[in-house]
Amino acid sequence: MAKILLCNGSPHTNGCTATALDEMIRVFAEEGMETELIQVGSKAVRGCISCRSCSKLGKCVFDDLVNEVAPKFEEADGLVVGSPVYYGSPNGTLLSFLDRLFYSTGFSKHMKVGAAVVSCRRGGNTASFDVLNKYFTISGMPVASSTYWN
Ligand SMILES: Cc1cc2nc3c(=O)[nH]c(=O)nc-3n(C[C@H](O)[C@H](O)[C@H](O)COP(=O)(O)O)c2cc1C
Repeated sequence: MAKILLCNGSPHTNGCTATALDEMIRVFAEEGMETELIQVGSKAVRGCISCRSCSKLGKCVFDDLVNEVAPKFEEADGLVVGSPVYYGSPNGTLLSFLDRLFYSTGFSKHMKVGAAVVSCRRGGNTASFDVLNKYFTISGMPVASSTYWN
């Protein structure tokens, strides 16, 4: 059975981003896929310090949510990343998490499918969407598209 990992960057575990992710979880379930939702934005996640220790350790030097999620990401067939828009970008906690998750994990991400979802009140959604999709396209991951405006 295909496994999809979903990450909520918002600090609101039941906010707008979570609502979008819940809808995706409902559809994945209908399609017979297994899902796991990780709440990222409600946790304290620091940024990458570019120490490169991960190349020796095989994991991030900061032993937190990133190292917890890494084996789940390795096992998953797909990754969905959801973010609220903060000042025209994905929110900071999520970016810190993704920088460290993608940089510290040596396994191949090739052909794991990636999808991003963003939530905003007024603007900055397309810029944020673009930032999130780059984690996928830099890593050889095909991006799941949609119809009309994603
Ligand atoms: C610090 C901060 C910055 C924000 N910046 C933007 C912005 O640039 N553009 C926008 O449309 N909404 C902005 N918002 C609003 C959120 O993107 C919006 O309310 C979003 O739906 C919240 O999602 P959530 O309920 O999952 O947390 C901002 C909110 C916060 C707290």
